[in-house]
Amino acid sequence: LHQKEYLSNGFMKAWEGASHAVYSPVALAQADGSYQRKLIGSYPVCTEKEALEALDAATEAYNNGRGAWPTMGVDDRIKCVENFTRKMIAQKDTVVKLIMWEIGKSFADSVKEFDRTVEYIYATIDALKNLDRQSSKFEIEQGIIAQVRRSPLGVVLCMGPFNYPLNETFTTLIPALIMGNTILFKPPKHGTLLFYPLLDAFRDSFPEGVVNTIYGRGHAIVPALMQSGKINVLTLIGSSKVADELKKLHPKVNRLRAILGLDAKNAAIITQNADLKLSVEETVLGALSFNGQRCTALKVIFVHRSKVDAFLEELSAAVSKLKYGMPWEKGVALTPLPEPHKPAYLKECIDDAIRHGASVINEGGGTSFESFVYPAIVYPVKAEMKLYREEQFGPVIPVVPFDDLEEPIQYLIESTHGQQVSIFSQDHEEISLLIDPLVNQVSRVNINCQCQRGPDVFPFTGRKDSAEGTLSVVDALRSFSIRSLVASKF
Ligand code: G3H
Repeated sequence: LHQKEYLSNGFMKAWEGASHAVYSPVALAQADGSYQRKLIGSYPVCTEKEALEALDAATEAYNNGRGAWPTMGVDDRIKCVENFTRKMIAQKDTVVKLIMWEIGKSFADSVKEFDRTVEYIYATIDALKNLDRQSSKFEIEQGIIAQVRRSPLGVVLCMGPFNYPLNETFTTLIPALIMGNTILFKPPKHGTLLFYPLLDAFRDSFPEGVVNTIYGRGHAIVPALMQSGKINVLTLIGSSKVADELKKLHPKVNRLRAILGLDAKNAAIITQNADLKLSVEETVLGALSFNGQRCTALKVIFVHRSKVDAFLEELSAAVSKLKYGMPWEKGVALTPLPEPHKPAYLKECIDDAIRHGASVINEGGGTSFESFVYPAIVYPVKAEMKLYREEQFGPVIPVVPFDDLEEPIQYLIESTHGQQVSIFSQDHEEISLLIDPLVNQVSRVNINCQCQRGPDVFPFTGRKDSAEGTLSVVDALRSFSIRSLVASKF
């Protein structure tokens, strides 16, 4: 795939900046036995000036009066999104393959990501129809007749993450769009090419300037967008550090709405009353699905000391059965990692734990070529180790033994993260004693199952540094709109 002559539906011209070569995390064996990442395409890198022009296109499309996107009726906006979705489905094969090649996600999971996104769009359309019915009602109070509407907020800057480049970008972009906002959208650094097959669909389904795509290094183009003061909503699924830095650049930060999905260090608590087999199965899924590169992944496992030996033995056995390989291989569970710095960072975390007295208790941790890391189970992890608090976002499972349930509870109280927790226990009284203290520290408590975002109709948020605002099908429609009023005396 190569550069297109336009960047967006509001910005139809050749770009002035450079191009960026995209290498797949999939490294192929060379004749000399070495491995080399495969070059799979390139994309244009916008200049700051071009990004600001795209912002102007979005601002104009929001403000330019009757019949335009924000003032279009809900039914017409829905038709445009349905039309876009049909065109998107026609591109499924290409998009799925690009997800797989760009971020190394298994083919099966890349298909799931695509299908989940389409389901999400249709669920959003249904939810909007209901919301619109409810909010179109007239109310009469004290001599005033009023219609409460859901109105858009303005220009939304959307930035999704590399681990769900299509799905998580669209869980903000689609609700923001369908509520009548105009969009400035920067694909993730790893996961850009996969949007190319959708650019024509954006151009052909929406009025000019409504969805504007910008490419390039975030740090080079996004600060100017924020400093312009013309971004009304910042939506980012990524790191809390980046979100905080970007927010500070906005001249009226207090007026900026931010819908953010950020860092997390979700814990599992495996009590002395846990079902061991179930705890192991869910830990494997929770900690290693897509190589642990999920914000919802289980990133630290607290195990009651009475169970820890059996747990480690069964966990090692389960991990050793996972198939690693190339993303297109059938039944593959572990695949190459797209972030070039990640293998070295994970090694640093493991070495740090070993220096402080822990061991890798399976045969994990090594790499076979620069982008592949075998899953490592590290035990016993203690407070002084990086793995205790840092979000590893990769295939490393830190296991912490505990004697008293107060220890993991205290861990969560002291944590700067507050997304989810999983409790494993077969004792109902024990579970109910844990729920209340934990649900006040995180935004979702899972009982006898891994942490996860879905089903997508459930609210998805977090406390502390883990989120701002709430996503999900209905919550997102609310997050990207305000309740406005048309009122008259009668
Ligand atoms: O990376 C963060 C995602 O929201 C995780 O979603 O729990 O469906 O894998 P998931």
